[in-house]
Amino acid sequence: MSGFLTLQHDVHTLEGLCLLQAGTDLSPETLEVLAEKGGKEQWSEVGLLEYGSILADLEKQMGQGTYRRLFGTVDECREIFTLMEPVRLPLPALEILDHFRRQDFYTYRHILMVFALSCVLAGRLPGEAGQFLPEAAAGPLHDLGKICVPLPVLKKSSPLQRSERSLLEQHAAAGFVLLTYYLGDAAAFSACVARDHHERRDGTGYPGGIRLSDPHVEIVAACDVYDALITPRPYRKGTYDNRSALEEITSLAEGGKVSWQIVRHLVSLSRSGGSAPEECVVSLEKRGTPPQENNYGVIAEDIED
Ligand SMILES: [Fe+2]
Ligand SMILES: [Fe+2]
Repeated sequence: MSGFLTLQHDVHTLEGLCLLQAGTDLSPETLEVLAEKGGKEQWSEVGLLEYGSILADLEKQMGQGTYRRLFGTVDECREIFTLMEPVRLPLPALEILDHFRRQDFYTYRHILMVFALSCVLAGRLPGEAGQFLPEAAAGPLHDLGKICVPLPVLKKSSPLQRSERSLLEQHAAAGFVLLTYYLGDAAAFSACVARDHHERRDGTGYPGGIRLSDPHVEIVAACDVYDALITPRPYRKGTYDNRSALEEITSLAEGGKVSWQIVRHLVSLSRSGGSAPEECVVSLEKRGTPPQENNYGVIAEDIED
């Protein structure tokens, strides 16, 4: 055991350039070479809200369904856009977002909305976690590594086979590799978020099984779970209503997997009148109705050929 993450599958760019092959250990030396090979200066940087239809898409999504309740009035949404205004990203990262917009709208919307939710939450959190805003300039990139997951696997509605699950789970390490390459820095916040957003406080996540403790990454990790619950996903019929989604994420806090503080802020965001998070009593009683058919995490045995 090297102690480093080992890639289970090749990592390639949108254009199909293989950056690292399956079996590569993500050692500091490997990452340094990769960062040198890439690097920011190779690509033009473009303002997030100026690129394609991102601003219009954000406006539309933030005004719909549960999101409308979370993001508030048009004026409140404008404040969020002001926070996002300085975000500039290397063109290839934006091109990947655009690819998802055309090929897999679930993933596109999810990436954008996790970013928007993280910005709002970070703006409300006290102390270290609330100092997130400069970090938020990392932009909507947490699932960028899904570009390395074949579309039929990403969009599959029936249970994934073990080999498909492995491809899907590699999106975390793949995003880390891609962003190290595009940003020329393995320590860049967005690269670390891509790698660690499926880790959990109790060490039961992936890819490293580390105990998540970075308050900034924890914001994205919690918003990631919450957003996946309240929006339609290919692997289940129907969405979680907001109550069931909050109950689900509360159970994760109860189980020591995500931060209570962040869950309290998510609950307070949903309450009309915006009760103060510190005073926000989170009920542990389960009264919501989660969707019946849900293949998330269900594994089908691989078919031998
Ligand atoms: Fe993810
Ligand atoms: Fe995600």
